[in-house]
Amino acid sequence: MHLTDYGSGTAILWIHGFPLSSRVFEKQLAIEGVRHLMPDLPGFGRTPPAAVEGIDGYARLVLDELDRAKLDRAVLAGLSMGGYILFGIARIAPERIQGAILIDTRETPDTADAKKGRYETIEKVKKNGIGAVVDSMLPKMLTKSAPPELVDEAESIMSSSSVDGVTTALKAMAERPDSTALLRMIRVPSLIVVGSDDTITPPSDAARMATALPDARTMIIPGAAHLSNMEQADVFNQAVVTDLLARL
Ligand code: MLT
Repeated sequence: MHLTDYGSGTAILWIHGFPLSSRVFEKQLAIEGVRHLMPDLPGFGRTPPAAVEGIDGYARLVLDELDRAKLDRAVLAGLSMGGYILFGIARIAPERIQGAILIDTRETPDTADAKKGRYETIEKVKKNGIGAVVDSMLPKMLTKSAPPELVDEAESIMSSSSVDGVTTALKAMAERPDSTALLRMIRVPSLIVVGSDDTITPPSDAARMATALPDARTMIIPGAAHLSNMEQADVFNQAVVTDLLARL
């Protein structure tokens, strides 16, 4: 996988969401004293498509990147689908997690309706490309007051996804297991972040995860929707420093 490896200090491995790429974390590179590891998952950003077996398949690929970076442990940060992958790592190799940043994500699996919708979308994307996915998701990524250049950037990141990358990820998300029971096992310092206006994974998801995670702090970021780290980067970055890194 293509990997941005930047800076030195405590390692944070940032796992992007769907249909995005590591570019969504560009503003997090400003957090100092950190070695930032940012892979592009297969079929997204600068990584070519590959066969991936479910969410835990992505988790194994991310663990390979930790090996490649010669790190036993790192703070893992997962945005939305990246959070689902973080839970996959907690299932497979919890000892590699030094701290967890759960960004606009949830631990529960798809409802039957959501799952059905994912498979319908897969067929549409195979026929007509990813345009419809970008068009339907873009309005939910940022608040209505987001500056136009931010909306353009989000659209450009989403549009760089490949058909294979999108269909493989949709299937993996549809089939992902319930990670509810796993939350109690994630005993490392954790930070849950959610945009106040996120309608994809709303603050109620964050509140539910907070009750189950043994060592979590929660930050609801006003003036942000699903891409809270991008839309309110300064507030987000400050929370990472004071509410997560300071607790390691
Ligand atoms: C994401 O941002 O990764 C997706 O919206 C997650 C999802 O569709 O469940």
